[in-house]
Amino acid sequence: MKISIISGSHRNPSQSEKVARHIEATLNNEHPDNETWLYPLADNPLPLWDQTVWDNTPRWKEYLDPIKEQVKSSDGFVIVSPEWHGQVPAGLKNFFLLMSRFEVGHKPALIVTLSNTDGGAYPVAELRMSSYKNNRICYIPEHVIVRNVETVLNDNAEDNNPDADSYFRERISWALDLLIAYAEALTPMRATAQIYHDKFRSGM
Ligand SMILES: Cc1cc2nc3c(=O)[nH]c(=O)nc-3n(C[C@H](O)[C@H](O)[C@H](O)COP(=O)(O)O)c2cc1C
Repeated sequence: MKISIISGSHRNPSQSEKVARHIEATLNNEHPDNETWLYPLADNPLPLWDQTVWDNTPRWKEYLDPIKEQVKSSDGFVIVSPEWHGQVPAGLKNFFLLMSRFEVGHKPALIVTLSNTDGGAYPVAELRMSSYKNNRICYIPEHVIVRNVETVLNDNAEDNNPDADSYFRERISWALDLLIAYAEALTPMRATAQIYHDKFRSGM
């Protein structure tokens, strides 16, 4: 299995990338047979979608081909998003405009959101409501909201709230176990079902 982790914050450095790197390390330690790929959206590596994307211009091919190759070869995803003004960052929504059913369709994804206070629910709702329709990414029912993110998952143990830190480490580990089980279960599904239908290219 190959699991790709998308860190959805434009900030550099960001708490999202800290959490994403923890997830990458957890996958590598606990599921060493699997491959991981981490793609941070720090500093906005992708331009905003424009009409020429559909013309597959050399400029867009240069941006997108290497990313699409990584995403297409993935069996599952972890989508890490901060809450910014009650929303998912625009760069993460842009990422979903640029990825299609041919890269992420009918593959499971774990949503992990975060807030430096007690937020984090809005980006879960937004991703579940509006980022899957045409690309058919499959969000699994379990998600993780890392509240008070600055007090957990830090490399320096002294920066962590011990109770919250151990809770989130355990919860993330379990959620990743579930994600991998879904990834294994959906691989034969994609091989047997007609997952691309020319008449029904967009979801309803
Ligand atoms: C533009 C902006 C808007 C924010 N809005 C919210 C918010 O609505 N709710 C919330 O809980 N935290 C909000 N925060 C605080 C974030 O939870 C906190 O900064 C977190 O570290 C952001 O993740 P990042 O470091 O990965 O960007 C906001 C932060 C930024 C930069």
